[in-house]
Amino acid sequence: MVLDYDGARRAIAGRDLPAVVVDLDAFDRNLERHVRRAGESGVSVRFATKSIRVPALIDRALAAPNARGLMCFTVREAAALARRGHDDLLVAYPTLERSAVELLTALTEEGKTVSLAVDSREAVARLSAASRGRGVSLRIVICADMSLRLGRGRVHLGVRRSPLHDPEDVVLVAEAARDAGLTVHGLLGYEAQVAGLGDESPFDSGAVRLAKRAIRSVSMTELSDRRSRMADALRARGLTLAFVNGGGTGSMDLTTPATGVTEVSAGSGLFKPLLFDAYRSEFVRSLEPACFFALEAVRRPAPGMVTCLGGGYVASGSAGPDKLPRPWLPEGLSLSGAEGAGEVQTPVLGAAADAVALGDPVFFRHAKAGEVMERFREVILVEGGEIAGVVPTYRGEGLCFC
Ligand SMILES: Cc1ncc(COP(=O)(O)O)c(C=O)c1O
Repeated sequence: MVLDYDGARRAIAGRDLPAVVVDLDAFDRNLERHVRRAGESGVSVRFATKSIRVPALIDRALAAPNARGLMCFTVREAAALARRGHDDLLVAYPTLERSAVELLTALTEEGKTVSLAVDSREAVARLSAASRGRGVSLRIVICADMSLRLGRGRVHLGVRRSPLHDPEDVVLVAEAARDAGLTVHGLLGYEAQVAGLGDESPFDSGAVRLAKRAIRSVSMTELSDRRSRMADALRARGLTLAFVNGGGTGSMDLTTPATGVTEVSAGSGLFKPLLFDAYRSEFVRSLEPACFFALEAVRRPAPGMVTCLGGGYVASGSAGPDKLPRPWLPEGLSLSGAEGAGEVQTPVLGAAADAVALGDPVFFRHAKAGEVMERFREVILVEGGEIAGVVPTYRGEGLCFC
């Protein structure tokens, strides 16, 4: 936050705690950095809604020049966004669920451009069966595996997503989809082991950081060629791809057209949560923290210590200290090793605790971007040090997609 502790405290004075606060000035600067960087590379940005989960902020991001379409978590989420007037919605995670497939069919019948990630013949069969006889062709996006395989597949570096690792695998599923009456709308290849791998984490040893840097660099070289060949192979079979999507906040300065993409997905960078403090990438370093949550200081168990109410907002993924939130303002506070961020209370330690009055807020940053929004119904938007508005989160609108 550009604000210091007193400024932040004054900005939300009188508001109920806990509260989540977005610094709109920082958000807008981050947004501008995304579209500028993407523009320099010659790609558009598809914002990842799961990393935002606040409809008004999704609208704001999408209004930026060079922003194109949204990447959604589920078909139900895409339907909610379509009802808000959005279109060009890529559901990036496969589903075979009957109700989701029916919803996708209904959205397509309504004329919405919604596509679903597919990486199996089972999913192709399910989608084809659901739309057969309905007079519509469902849009699918072939989701490819961008992990780095070494030693003839004995070493797998990356997430476990799609089994479609080689261009031939992608072509087989795409042709099966086309033969089954589906429309192959695009290609999705997310390089999680680059975009999601911070190479400067304070929780890693020097050797681990070096290893992560090597994985990022070797991966990008390997997958750039493979992803380009995948897209070429699909086009060579007469398929028109509306987009080739890849990347994330953590690879904005690496995922370029030379790596086979036409667009990059990103979302977390708009808030710059804690995990993105752990990157050497010039782009990521240029971003500013823009999202905070404020807990009420309610107890003073001892000098140099103040205890906040609630606060156990731990991030998903492999469990570790990097998934904990961190006290941010006033500066100089840390979590207690014994309690961490707790369900009912979160003690924070440090000399600055003595200056926090009971009843006042302590500001924290979450490790990830959108997840914290599931804890709150509304977000306080602060601009120029003052409240510019209070807007609902997905949860505040009664929406839950996780
Ligand atoms: C398919 C896909 N693309 C892109 C991203 C990057 O999102 P972010 O920029 O929020 O890290 C993710 C994050 O999990 C993802 O799953």
